[in-house]
Amino acid sequence: MSLVYRPARAQDLAAADILAVASINDLTVRHGFGPMAALSAPNFQLFSLKDDPDGLWIAEDGGDLLGFAWSWVCGDVWFLAQLFVDPAQQGRGIGNELLKLTLEHARKSGAVHKALITFSFNRVSQGLYLRHGLFPKVPIYFFDAARERVMEELPEPALRGIPIDDSAATMERLVEIDLRAIGFPREKHHRYLLSDPATTGFLLCAGSEYVGYSYISASGHIGPVAVWQADVLGDAFMTAMKMAADGASGKISAFLPGTCESALNLAVGHGMRITFPMLLMASSGYSTWTQYLPRNPGFM
Ligand SMILES: CC(C)(COP(=O)(O)OP(=O)(O)OC[C@H]1O[C@@H](n2cnc3c(N)ncnc32)[C@H](O)[C@@H]1OP(=O)(O)O)[C@@H](O)C(=O)NCCC(=O)NCCS
Repeated sequence: MSLVYRPARAQDLAAADILAVASINDLTVRHGFGPMAALSAPNFQLFSLKDDPDGLWIAEDGGDLLGFAWSWVCGDVWFLAQLFVDPAQQGRGIGNELLKLTLEHARKSGAVHKALITFSFNRVSQGLYLRHGLFPKVPIYFFDAARERVMEELPEPALRGIPIDDSAATMERLVEIDLRAIGFPREKHHRYLLSDPATTGFLLCAGSEYVGYSYISASGHIGPVAVWQADVLGDAFMTAMKMAADGASGKISAFLPGTCESALNLAVGHGMRITFPMLLMASSGYSTWTQYLPRNPGFM
């Protein structure tokens, strides 16, 4: 049999998730962190495939899935959501070939900026991305804590949350906030989150002004969070912590970039612990996040 690279199909995505989970856990266990990933329905992968099939690629040999790459494009930004190779097949050039195919997606889409989130303890992925013009920008820590610990001394939220709906007015506000916070509109991704029954989104208001948004998952996970100006990020994260703590999950978690100091202070001040150190890598000129907390390494 021979190794082939081909566009991914919907029926590949469950197997690709199994491969990604095995590859992540192989890496995190090898580095002493224990397993990080668990299987989940590949809903966002399927959404991306329907939206823009050019970003999803498979490496296979005789029907065996050896590697998977998945990128999406929004506005002028290309984002690498996943790149995973079967642990037994790593180091033989498969990751490099898959990355080239997804970078072609970036080129064809006319993307100006390229970005991704990887594991800061993976020398291989970082070395590979560097070879393709993606540079280390900002550490991102995955924090978590028991809900009871976070709830201790948590003040009343500074901002008011209004549930996100799919009205044109709400979408317009979300687009405006994203343009300020990350520089590109993500309406399609807000619509995806709206369709996820395990996630609730809120527009955040100070008095009558809309200053940001935050999403909370049933699992107690916070993110994405974006704000109109950097100086309200602390209030936004505090409000999101309170919303997450009011939920039923025993855990609260979030991905916090090193540039978001107010959120980091709140996280450590309320007993959250770093569990996995990650890293934003991006092409030159991509500005780092001071008004944005990503949801996870795939969604951004
Ligand atoms: C990262 C990953 C996708 C790369 O795929 P792969 O098939 O193993 O990688 P390749 O063989 O194509 O390329 C490896 C390249 O990494 C680079 N590399 C490896 N170790 C390196 C080091 N210590 N310093 C710098 N660069 C290094 C080299 O450029 C190497 O290519 P070369 O040997 O031709 O010079 C794969 O190893 C993997 O799935 N890892 C675990 C999960 C993961 O971290 N995925 C990335 C998530 S964003």
